[in-house]
Amino acid sequence: TVDISPSARFCIKECEIITALYLGIEKLKAAEDALAPPVEDITPRLAALSPDHPDNICLSSFDPAYYASLSNEDKAGLERCMRSGIENPDSSMGCYACQPEDYDRFKPFFSKALAKYHGVPEDAKHVNDWSLEGVEGLPADGGLDIAKLGLPELSMRVRVGRNLKAFPLPGAMTKQQRCDMENFMLGAFAKLIAMPEYGGKYCSFTPGHPNYVDAAEYQKLVDAHIAFKDMSADKYLLSAGIAQDWPHGRGVYVSEDRGFIIWVGEEDHLRIMCMEKGTVLNKVFDRLKAALDVVNGIEGLEFAISPDYGVVTSCPTNLGTGMRASLHIQLPYLTADGTDAKAKAIATPLGLSVRGLGGEHTPIGADGTVDISPSARFCIKECEI
Ligand code: ARG
Repeated sequence: TVDISPSARFCIKECEIITALYLGIEKLKAAEDALAPPVEDITPRLAALSPDHPDNICLSSFDPAYYASLSNEDKAGLERCMRSGIENPDSSMGCYACQPEDYDRFKPFFSKALAKYHGVPEDAKHVNDWSLEGVEGLPADGGLDIAKLGLPELSMRVRVGRNLKAFPLPGAMTKQQRCDMENFMLGAFAKLIAMPEYGGKYCSFTPGHPNYVDAAEYQKLVDAHIAFKDMSADKYLLSAGIAQDWPHGRGVYVSEDRGFIIWVGEEDHLRIMCMEKGTVLNKVFDRLKAALDVVNGIEGLEFAISPDYGVVTSCPTNLGTGMRASLHIQLPYLTADGTDAKAKAIATPLGLSVRGLGGEHTPIGADGTVDISPSARFCIKECEI
């Protein structure tokens, strides 16, 4: 970095000095751009890779003609979004947005990927709506109480992913930006701490942070399902640039009753969630909506929203609502063979995912407990999930 300034002071007008600076910079920029190394054309590499990996949505959504039409800057930007799927051909989705605008900036690519994954038309538009009023299938009293199904209190959780408009998405953040984002959120946490229904504390994993929790305390938070795991064990997130600089800029806000939690610096800037052992799904849903309104109402805090796609998340699988609503249920007979195959045979056609208890790609509980959640995130309303 250099400091550039017009040299003249005498017999030149002030207006000419500032204009001379602008005109000189224009020439310097052109000279700099001419020396920049050309961006690698990824087309031949992908043409060789794609036929062997038809289930990789990132690879199958790549259109050489669209790519060729892009400027060098946009070519590099699109390659950045595709990097995880290229480096990990076994990916199912394989791409991640790196900037809040990427879904709109690279719409010809992402609209294909979204259509394939979510089973929607390429020109689909997402609508957000939390109001349960008039939702098809809702019991007459509006209550989603699993006690009415003869079930005991179960562990239930609703989470949403959110990203701040003011920062790059986690895949493109520098270490400094990760820490700046964490520190920006301290203002929001102060506001939550002052509210009896959400009050609690912020635990930072960033060494040297005033709210730092040490390794032993961090592990306790992980064991209590409050903190998220070290992301650098995830090859997809590493290739995407999302897991870098761990544990800097990472932490969790947790309410006194431990039922309201915000993850900071995981796959999305924020993962905001409510969890409770109970029977009434409305309770976690309504509490999350109210908390979200508080966070959303904080001065200077603006979530990234796409005009056509709704809530912006790093991964296109979460786009739209960013919402996963789940509960843990014991299905000892359906899982008597030690697998979730029978549960999946029933759940999958209903649009429900069956997962293990440790989240994505983890085994089911030894007692037959599984994690059930609606699979859809995009082109579905929160109230419908
Ligand atoms: N990138 C990985 C893949 O394509 C994970 C995608 C979904 N999971 C997620 N946590 N976003 O297989």
